[in-house]
Amino acid sequence: MYCNCKFLCMIFSYWKCLWRWTTSQNLSSEDLQAVLGKKEVQEALFQGLLSYKPNSPGTFSQLESKYPDQVKLLNTVQTLQNYIDVDSFQIWDLIKHYLCSISYGNITNALKNIAFLDTRPTFILPNVWKFYYCERLFLLRLLQYIIENKNNANHKYHKEFSHIYNTSGANLMSSLVGQFEKVTTSTPPPRKIHNDFGNETIRQEWAEYNLREQLALLQLIILLIDEENIPVEHFQTLFKAFRRCNFGKNQSYHELLEERHRDMCMKIVYLETCLFIVVSDKQYL
Ligand SMILES: *[C@@H]1O[C@H](CO)[C@@H](O)[C@H](O)[C@H]1NC(C)=O
Ligand SMILES: *[C@@H]1O[C@H](CO)[C@@H](O)[C@H](O)[C@H]1NC(C)=O
Ligand SMILES: *[C@@H]1O[C@H](CO)[C@@H](O)[C@H](O)[C@H]1NC(C)=O
Ligand SMILES: *[C@@H]1O[C@H](CO)[C@@H](O)[C@H](O)[C@H]1NC(C)=O
Ligand SMILES: *[C@@H]1O[C@H](CO)[C@@H](O)[C@H](O)[C@H]1NC(C)=O
Repeated sequence: MYCNCKFLCMIFSYWKCLWRWTTSQNLSSEDLQAVLGKKEVQEALFQGLLSYKPNSPGTFSQLESKYPDQVKLLNTVQTLQNYIDVDSFQIWDLIKHYLCSISYGNITNALKNIAFLDTRPTFILPNVWKFYYCERLFLLRLLQYIIENKNNANHKYHKEFSHIYNTSGANLMSSLVGQFEKVTTSTPPPRKIHNDFGNETIRQEWAEYNLREQLALLQLIILLIDEENIPVEHFQTLFKAFRRCNFGKNQSYHELLEERHRDMCMKIVYLETCLFIVVSDKQYL
């Protein structure tokens, strides 16, 4: 997918776009600063998956009164909320970003082109749903990339990365542990209601994203343990989470997993064991 969205990135976190820009080292340091230096972007980055706020009563009607003529898209927001517990305005943004990504538009005119876009629920629902889960992963990947390269003197942006980390990274360990806890206790979306997604594979896809998120978070935590100690209470929380799924061997949604997920499950087993050993070795032996 083409990504011409400098302006779009600046408005708010469009993680895939930011990730591409950052990893291709294609921005000037000023442009990078203009994007990653923004307070709301850094906040979201370090809150990670917790930057997606749960839906709260009343916000949908606020959204509705703001865009009274967008009945179709409002319905999409509402239906999506049966499957993902995310704030109405954040879902609205996700839809707009998704529409930009398929129409090459920018966020300002995202809704102007709507007549030319496919907004049938059977098309837009599964696609925005996927877009959302991909964005979550890009968010985690970008954070990992920043931490990995902040001390790498050969990286074009290492100073900027180091600065971002120093300014916003203070509570990162506790945030990551909280995210891991949340991801490992979340439950698959309900079976289809009114045939929203056309087919049943959404639960299997969810399971796959959930495994990917666990992996990304474990990698981040291991990376961070290299930087700083992990407080005992966080380690205990992690350890409980590991035990709950038998060190990755038994996810609560195991009935959704298929042979092709085996590798990912094994990676979780290895990473959890590895994390346990690294911490014991570094801190408690
Ligand atoms: C970024 O990449 C594009 C093409 O891929 C190139 O035209 C442009 O000069 C690059 N910009 C920077 C700042 O490196
Ligand atoms: C968004 O796109 C429209 C039409 O293509 C253009 O007129 C407008 O300047 C763009 N806005 C920004 C901020 O790039
Ligand atoms: C960030 O903090 C580290 C450790 O205190 C320090 O060595 C580094 O220079 C700081 N980076 C920036 C960009 O200030
Ligand atoms: C179900 O949907 C997914 C993606 O939305 C698609 O890849 C798959 O082929 C569909 N399966 C059937 C049986 O229609
Ligand atoms: C995995 O957990 C489920 C319940 O969540 C339990 O029924 C099953 O026996 C467990 N399997 C293993 C191999 O521990």
